[in-house]
Amino acid sequence: MASNTFGEIFKITTWGESHGKLMGVVIDGCPSNIFISKEEIEKELSLRRSRNSYTTKRKEKDFIEIASGIFKGKTTGAPISIIIKNEDVYSKEYEKNKDLLRPNHANFTYLKKYGIFDYRGGGRSSGRETVLRVIASTIAKKILKKYKIETLAYIKSVYNIEAKIPSLPLTDLKKKRDKSILLCPDPKATDEMISVLEKIKEEKESCGATIECQTSFLPPGLGDPIYQKLSSKLAHGIFSIPGVKGFEIGNGFFSTQMKGSEYHDHFFLNEENEIKTKTNHAGGLFGGITNGMPLVFRVAFKPTPSILKPINTLTVRGKKAVLEWKDSRFDVCFGLRCCPIVEAMTNLVLVDALLMQNSKNLQ
Ligand SMILES: Cc1cc2nc3c(=O)[nH]c(=O)nc-3n(C[C@H](O)[C@H](O)[C@H](O)COP(=O)(O)O)c2cc1C
Repeated sequence: MASNTFGEIFKITTWGESHGKLMGVVIDGCPSNIFISKEEIEKELSLRRSRNSYTTKRKEKDFIEIASGIFKGKTTGAPISIIIKNEDVYSKEYEKNKDLLRPNHANFTYLKKYGIFDYRGGGRSSGRETVLRVIASTIAKKILKKYKIETLAYIKSVYNIEAKIPSLPLTDLKKKRDKSILLCPDPKATDEMISVLEKIKEEKESCGATIECQTSFLPPGLGDPIYQKLSSKLAHGIFSIPGVKGFEIGNGFFSTQMKGSEYHDHFFLNEENEIKTKTNHAGGLFGGITNGMPLVFRVAFKPTPSILKPINTLTVRGKKAVLEWKDSRFDVCFGLRCCPIVEAMTNLVLVDALLMQNSKNLQ
């Protein structure tokens, strides 16, 4: 199986399956002398864990082990390997349904491709793999912090409820977000989302969600032209998260309903004598390169495919069958768990772009 690696300079390779004993990430190309501790990584992982009754009942302690590349609390420049245990696995139900094709899951396509599939919890295609991206991103985040770059993802919509996102500095928006059990910075919308989620849960159904992500003002010049545009790198990173069905930058699809003069982001000189734009319809990128404004983009997550209602399907041999989950630990809305994952992929793309940019000028 190829393609378990992401990044050009800050390169991560992940391994392990959802119900396997261990999973791990190897980070190659990380600069030396970055302070990082086990506790900092575990703290980041706690954000990724289920924090409400609409997300999985799987409770992982997420204790990690640093196996290489960090000495006396600092990165050495050698490959960093970090290992995590899967402890709260419950493979019995998957055993029962192992011959059934799961609609909108990866088992049919993996079977066609490899002729074998680790059906326990979705194997490699499981959301559990994303824990490794969050681990790698904790280190990326430390590098970005040196450049005052921050990332914030929050829930923008759940099913048919859309939040109004206040225009605030990132730190204030984060405070509002963290007060919500759904990580949505709009308290009224949070309440409405909870009512909708309760109803969907009662119906033994599931639903999707949209996450919006913003960064702080970025240095202009990150991202490379044509095939390595920051927009295409972000799309690559974000679409590699399981269950992502849409991605738009700035005004995205709504831009098609605007006239050219309405869409223009006009330049001006700010008090610090920097060239900025008055609006940010482009979401921080001109020509795939950062223009000095914050990145703004949205990600659509589909409804959780595994639901508690019986699902008509076929067996692997093509016979009609009904897929039923009894003791489900599935997410009613797995998108609710994805803010730290969207932030992680953004941090990984940005740190790579930053290191690429630093390797450009030899002055
Ligand atoms: C954090 C996370 C948790 C997920 N939890 C579930 C889940 O509980 N049940 C489920 O059916 N799918 C869940 N998924 C979605 C599956 O991983 C996804 O449907 C599958 O990999 C197919 O991916 P695709 O939509 O990209 O084709 C989760 C995804 C993520 C990122």
